[in-house]
Amino acid sequence: MDKRVFSGIRATGRLHLGNYFGAVKGMLELQDKYDCIFSVVDLHTITTPFEPKTLQKKIREVVLDYLAAGLDPHKCHLMIQSQVPEHLELAYLLSTVYPVSRLEDLPTYKDKKLQHPDYVNLALLYYPVLMAADILVYKAELVPVGLDQEPHIEIAREIARKFNRMFPDGTKDHVTFPEPQRFITKEEYVPSLLGSGKMSKSVEGSFILLADDQATIKKRLAAAPTDKGFGKDIPQEGGVANLLKMVEIFQGQDKRAKYEQKYLSTGINYRALKEDLANGIYKVLAPIQEKRKYYEAHPALVEGALRDGRDYATKIASQTLMEVKQKMGLLA
Ligand code: TYM
Repeated sequence: MDKRVFSGIRATGRLHLGNYFGAVKGMLELQDKYDCIFSVVDLHTITTPFEPKTLQKKIREVVLDYLAAGLDPHKCHLMIQSQVPEHLELAYLLSTVYPVSRLEDLPTYKDKKLQHPDYVNLALLYYPVLMAADILVYKAELVPVGLDQEPHIEIAREIARKFNRMFPDGTKDHVTFPEPQRFITKEEYVPSLLGSGKMSKSVEGSFILLADDQATIKKRLAAAPTDKGFGKDIPQEGGVANLLKMVEIFQGQDKRAKYEQKYLSTGINYRALKEDLANGIYKVLAPIQEKRKYYEAHPALVEGALRDGRDYATKIASQTLMEVKQKMGLLA
């Protein structure tokens, strides 16, 4: 059997360059090789404040961005998490093998608590267990996600290991769950335009969207902090370091080296750098935006892909669930 791959993105609106380079690029690479299921994880979306009225629209935005970026329904399966309730059922069963204290210690949980102090709910704590179930319900071995998700993948591995140990099936080599690994892309961490932290949807000014036009990209880059343009050492962190990183990603290592040379000698003209970088970014995004228009104009194609994805995913997920219930003694 082909190796199986699973990944998902929350429905918090349109995708940004961090999502693209950290997660979607990996999905694109793997859809050509393996049995892939890619999801919009709407049940994870509702762990932080959200608007019921716009949730369906936001789910659709992610699906369209997936397709626009090149996920091909002939090569992979696209599905909406809540349409396959086996994820939830498995999450409950797996939660019985995992300690609460480990979940409370998780940096992502602590960050979210700080970000939304009035919205600290049980599902937020449970988030990594549901994420483990998303992956394990398909017995996926590879998970294309960015660097920030590594602690969650580690929890999925711990849960798999513990379940396999607690509920062996008696045969020597067989285990229920493989231990999933993160599939690492070349750019597993895209920095914020603001000079500190990662590019993130929840930090205004930090991101560029896949859907941004040339003028918007220019505007966003124009607001990125810089310095006087020259110095004795190339900055390793902050606004300039992040701009140089973007140059490297979109315009290549040689161009970056040229700017570095300038920084150490005559100085960088940031206005020109940003202008040039904006053009470089738009060149990558323009074909994605073209493709998005195509799918926007053909909703039946999108619906069809989601239906097929749901059916395919349900078949696998229900088999896993039967096996798990059998091992736990829940089936007569
Ligand atoms: P979410 O929606 O927060 O993030 C989506 C994906 O984008 C990646 N990412 C980045 N990568 C590099 N640089 C950045 N600046 C950057 N910002 C975001 C994230 O690493 C992520 O891959 N917990 C998941 C959703 C999820 C999931 C799953 C993923 C739920 N169940 C099962 C895989 C498998 C998340 O936070 O997505």
